[in-house]
Amino acid sequence: MLSDAASLAALWAARYRAGMAPGGLPDEAMLRHLMAHRSVRAYRPDPVPESVLDGAVAAAQSASTSSNLQVWSVVAVKDAERRGRLAELAGGQAHIRQAPLFLAWLVDLSRLARMGEARAHATEGLDYLETFLVGVVDATLAAQNAAAFLEAQGLGIVYIGGLRNHPEQVARELGLPDRCMAVFGMCVGHPDPDRPAAIKPRLPQSVVLHRERYDIAGEGEAIGRYDGADEAFQCEQGLAPRAWSDVMLRRVAGPQSLSGRDRLREALDVLGFALR
Ligand SMILES: Cc1cc2nc3c(=O)[nH]c(=O)nc-3n(C[C@H](O)[C@H](O)[C@H](O)COP(=O)(O)O)c2cc1C
Repeated sequence: MLSDAASLAALWAARYRAGMAPGGLPDEAMLRHLMAHRSVRAYRPDPVPESVLDGAVAAAQSASTSSNLQVWSVVAVKDAERRGRLAELAGGQAHIRQAPLFLAWLVDLSRLARMGEARAHATEGLDYLETFLVGVVDATLAAQNAAAFLEAQGLGIVYIGGLRNHPEQVARELGLPDRCMAVFGMCVGHPDPDRPAAIKPRLPQSVVLHRERYDIAGEGEAIGRYDGADEAFQCEQGLAPRAWSDVMLRRVAGPQSLSGRDRLREALDVLGFALR
């Protein structure tokens, strides 16, 4: 596992940039592994073995799935030209071109639609936002299980939300049937040791963990501290320093900050989702 070399205290310091005695935490290999996650955007060209892909899908299918509906699928793309086209559709992201394997994680209501059609059975329940959401949740849980497994194999991953910039074109490129949409992609490959990724700090636990009832006391001050930690991270990475809160607010300022995804509702109609 990536995390074997790092102590829990070192991982905590990297993740939170704040003092805390990790003595109170279970020093589990699994926790160390998960805390060592970092998105990888620079890869060596070596292929990902088929057995590793099989393992990733087994990990993905072992995740919980709402009512065992299993309304997700994944398309594994190795073809360099197809990856190139997907890279452009996702906003010109070079790492999609570079990573030897690209996984497109799908919310897939088409399987149940086909099953219903084959038996002349009603499937009206597929036409509700609820069922679409079930597919998104299922695909996400499956993908994250796969990600944790792939990272345990020493591979690097980065999720690609840019796959939602042009949902209809992505669906055509991947030959998706109606009621099937790529919710995000995932680059997979061997991290380039010359361009290592670092652990990115996260918000203090006090901001995201609420006990018994939602509580915003101390939130502003904690976010201010996090802005400082994130700025330090940016500087260490040779990136332009900026306050996290400024960047995040810019990202939600209006439809123009959504990279074309402001028309997702319309795209879902085209892709055959009713979403009542
Ligand atoms: C659903 C999802 C979509 C993402 N989309 C992209 C993307 O299109 N391009 C990219 O470079 N990173 C993408 N990321 C990676 C995030 O930017 C990254 O996880 C975040 O900055 C935290 O960094 P870390 O993963 O290194 O801890 C995505 C992450 C998630 C969970």
